[in-house]
Amino acid sequence: MGLRVTLIQGGGAGLDQVPATKAILSAAGAVIDWDEHLAGWASMEQGGEPLPRTLLDSVRHSGLALKTKLLPPPGPVEGPRPEKINFNVQLRRELGLFASVRPLKNLAGLPARFRGVDMLVVRELTEDLYAAIEHEIVPGVVQSIKVVTAAASNRFFRFAFEWARTMGRKSVTCVHKANILKLADGLFLESFRTAARDFPEFQTREIIVDNCCMQMVSRPQQFDVLVMGNLYGDLVSDLGAGVVGGISAAAGINVGEGVHVYESFHGGSREDIGVNRANPLPLLLPAIDLLDAEGQKPIAQRILSAVEQVLTERRSLTPDLGGQATTTEMSQAIIAALG
Ligand code: IPM
Ligand code: MG
Repeated sequence: MGLRVTLIQGGGAGLDQVPATKAILSAAGAVIDWDEHLAGWASMEQGGEPLPRTLLDSVRHSGLALKTKLLPPPGPVEGPRPEKINFNVQLRRELGLFASVRPLKNLAGLPARFRGVDMLVVRELTEDLYAAIEHEIVPGVVQSIKVVTAAASNRFFRFAFEWARTMGRKSVTCVHKANILKLADGLFLESFRTAARDFPEFQTREIIVDNCCMQMVSRPQQFDVLVMGNLYGDLVSDLGAGVVGGISAAAGINVGEGVHVYESFHGGSREDIGVNRANPLPLLLPAIDLLDAEGQKPIAQRILSAVEQVLTERRSLTPDLGGQATTTEMSQAIIAALG
């Protein structure tokens, strides 16, 4: 029997990315026993819950999932909505996912603003403004509360340093805004300094988030591992993805106790992208990371080389990459390049 992995289908681009990714992994010889579940709007459309219990139980049981972005019901993003909290964030809460590792690295053949970039953005996932504690005090005055606790920060930084150690990284930079948010970011930074003392092999650095953004688009090669809170992590990981070539080079590994969810954190609706037009790479990249981490490195490497060959040849690319291929055609080209 192969590796058991829960496959979470969130709709939109995912409807095309999932069959493409499964076909590529299977052609490359990965033996995976997929347990597929619908979530988000894709599930609601069929009369199901956005986060069905069977799905959550499956992930808790397998400890491993591959996930597309969960789409919300159609309609404007802002203002009162039927769902209280974004489904992707809710899934993270349900599964106790407390950190997201986002590798940002150039791919051969993928045009990018900079080359020679190879960094990890490690993002806290449970607190900060994502606690989503918001209220209206009086009409015209609202509050959104930033939550930072020592307990969550300590666990997060220990995890980040341990991950950096396992990956053989050299330097860890904490991104913050403690010059303004003296309490919230002050506590976060203090917790970083405390954790750093137990990992003396690392060069550590602290950088204010606005300067980090400027450095990112001036000399991104200077960064190795970047650690930060939930909101800055959201922004900086997308900034970093832009630096290395966009959604094709981005993947997230969300970690909780005994659970790893490999996710595509980009993806739109079929109304926006079209049917069979989605770039398969945002889901294929985390799938490659999953194989790499689960003892199937040679297969992961083979798929990555095939992806780089297809990107370099530029003959079978989806419209977002400047080509005219369908999702199926691009995935078939990757399969043909497996060699
Ligand atoms: C991400 C995404 C999510 C986030 C959305 C989909 C809720 O942007 O994972 O980066 O804001 O965390
Ligand atoms: Mg984001």
